[in-house]
Amino acid sequence: MSEENIREKKRIFSGIQPSGELTLGSYMGAIRNWVALQDEYDCVYCIVDMHAITVRQNPADLRRRTLAQLAQYIACGLDPKKSILFIQSHVHQHAELGWVLGCYTQFGELSRMTQFKDKAAKHADNITSGLFTYPVLMAADILLYQADLVPVGEDQRQHVELCRDIAQRFNGVYSDTFRLPEAFIPKMGARVMSLGDPTSKMSKSDPDGCINLMDKPEEIVRKFKRAVTDSDSENCVRFDSENKPGVSNLITIYAAATGMDRENVEQKFAGQGYGSFKPAVADAIIELFRPIREEAERLNADKEYLESVYRDGAERASCVAEKTLRKVYKKVGFIPR
Ligand code: TRP
Repeated sequence: MSEENIREKKRIFSGIQPSGELTLGSYMGAIRNWVALQDEYDCVYCIVDMHAITVRQNPADLRRRTLAQLAQYIACGLDPKKSILFIQSHVHQHAELGWVLGCYTQFGELSRMTQFKDKAAKHADNITSGLFTYPVLMAADILLYQADLVPVGEDQRQHVELCRDIAQRFNGVYSDTFRLPEAFIPKMGARVMSLGDPTSKMSKSDPDGCINLMDKPEEIVRKFKRAVTDSDSENCVRFDSENKPGVSNLITIYAAATGMDRENVEQKFAGQGYGSFKPAVADAIIELFRPIREEAERLNADKEYLESVYRDGAERASCVAEKTLRKVYKKVGFIPR
């Protein structure tokens, strides 16, 4: 513990499920921030394939998307030399610690998780115990690395808080074992809404309202063309998320893509209607994503390189994870082999 306690840099852990394409939302809300944190923090970024199977996945798609997601992580600027990038199922300690932590988590606590309730309603024909205990595996992810900060969206705050409660409980029973992590929710992180329904979050489950990182320019143009703007008669580019959620979302996207602030976007498009604003937003995203998409395509064709990255990542992750797991096994009373 002592060596772990005198850290030079705080440690960060986060992950995204390879259950669909990475979206504009995952880029603006997560990955872009992860990239920015790499110098100041000791970062561990994971592709959580074990979480993905809590709802049914097609195996070939899961494999393809897992590898493609790694290529996209790197293309976005996550640097395997600075950060640990790895695939969750490659580090067996996640499943093992998950089991132990499950024995320190109450049924009632898991029943209160709003994401479980939502997903159970959506997949009513397949409510597995894996879906139910998903937050326990997530707690294992975080605690194995003794992470200080967990950058996540608002929707994951409850899971990080549960993780903290589990850690605190375990520490209370067995003496200090886990560092208590905190959710790290960037205030700046643009919250990107669906292009089809600007009152709900942009989500891969709503393909037309959702821009993917790997979308071709034509697709981006098409999706923005169909973006819902507002039925007010004003037809002016003005931010008002209450009364004009559609155009406000487009302003947010344009601002995030160009680094401008909202006021400047309004000024730039003063006197112009939605008709000229929408293609301008599409263009900004096309230019932002073009180099990322091209680099991801290049990397995706270089399987040998990707393999070397995930092997090295798994090895480094495993080293840290094993230390924590040993400690835990010892504390609960397992005999070392
Ligand atoms: N549950 C997260 C999500 O769906 C993904 C995730 C799994 C995660 N394990 C994690 C995020 C650990 C942060 C830390 O978005």
